[in-house]
Amino acid sequence: MCLNTLGQKGWSALPARDFPEGFLFGAATSSHQVEGGNDNCDWWDWELAGGAKDLSGTACEHYERYPEDIALLRSLGLNSYRFSLEWSRIEPEPGRFETRELEHYRDMALACRAQGVEPIVTLHHFTLPRWLSEKGGVLAPGSTERFAAFCGAAADALEGAARYIITINEPMILVLMGYVDGVWPPGRKSYPAAVAAAQRLVRWHRAAYDRIRARHPDMLLGIAKHWIDFQPLDKGSAAHRRGAALQHYLFNRWYLRAIRRSQDFIGLNYYSTRYVTSLTQGVPLASEDEPRTEMGWSISPQGLTRALRGLREFRLPIMVTENGIAAKDDGQRLAYLLDHLAAVRAAMREGIPVVGYQYWSLLDNFEWAEGYRPQFGLVHIDRDTQARTVRPSGERYGEIARTGRLAEPGGS
Ligand code: FCB
Repeated sequence: MCLNTLGQKGWSALPARDFPEGFLFGAATSSHQVEGGNDNCDWWDWELAGGAKDLSGTACEHYERYPEDIALLRSLGLNSYRFSLEWSRIEPEPGRFETRELEHYRDMALACRAQGVEPIVTLHHFTLPRWLSEKGGVLAPGSTERFAAFCGAAADALEGAARYIITINEPMILVLMGYVDGVWPPGRKSYPAAVAAAQRLVRWHRAAYDRIRARHPDMLLGIAKHWIDFQPLDKGSAAHRRGAALQHYLFNRWYLRAIRRSQDFIGLNYYSTRYVTSLTQGVPLASEDEPRTEMGWSISPQGLTRALRGLREFRLPIMVTENGIAAKDDGQRLAYLLDHLAAVRAAMREGIPVVGYQYWSLLDNFEWAEGYRPQFGLVHIDRDTQARTVRPSGERYGEIARTGRLAEPGGS
């Protein structure tokens, strides 16, 4: 399998490695979860109104500390870093773009490049500028044009500094949490609003894609698609099977099919299996004694292989843009990481063109409504001192990245 357009070598010729040379092993973060001081966006208002268990506050001070964090990522042996831009900093008022902020993010991408780290830049990762959320957020009149203009300005600033661009992170999670469950901004619980938001987010991506494509032909554009591995709780139940099929179509496939002509690669965010019991319902665990993460999610590496197989229909290179675990016990994190990398390798051995894997997350960070309790990081952050401490799982992951080998040294 040869992916020349993405500059990767074939892996069949490299028997000593589990992953080909040039495979992008990295880690991910997002602006609001790590930067600190993001007080001009809808999430800050949501936190102040009591919508999250903690205030994001200073987060990881990544806005200032990014040079040391990128150097740390590089020192582990990783060769890519997925981070996001904060729209509310770049466009604090409608139509006023802050050159200083655009340069800040360009500098981040260049700091990656200078260290041999491929930047993977997300333009929108859940947060909206307050001025837009006050007008109705995603559903505000003219929001598509606003988003496309922001993406155009961002892409212009990133020209020559970043190649992989993700327009929107997890549009269907935004719809589910913000418009169905109502536990994230804007806190709606309305199916009609959810459908309208999903359709609007399709237009956002298409408009951004067209805007960027016209001016930056070398950029590789996609979204980060959250994929849930829906399985019937009882395989013998026709109702459970029908429910799993419907939820799979609506959540996993519908959006990707709607934007299928506007993508150069597919970004996949995968975490777990969900066990479906009806057309609309499901449970996170098949049984009470099933092992789970600190988020209460099932641990299901086979689901990642199934997701990668499911994405075959789009005939595009795939980047795992998020996969990770909230764990108190770093041994559990390492086991999750190894098992999921093996699941990626299994898919690649079937010929599925996976070009990279970004662990979520580089740093312990602000996990949205759950606050700071869940710890996803390869790097622990001391919340009082901001001290960074690499966990053993981070060291081991770096070794895999450096060698391209998943097996323990001396193992098979
Ligand atoms: C994903 C989000 C990311 C993070 C992880 C745990 O849905 O994209 O920001 O919160 O879940």
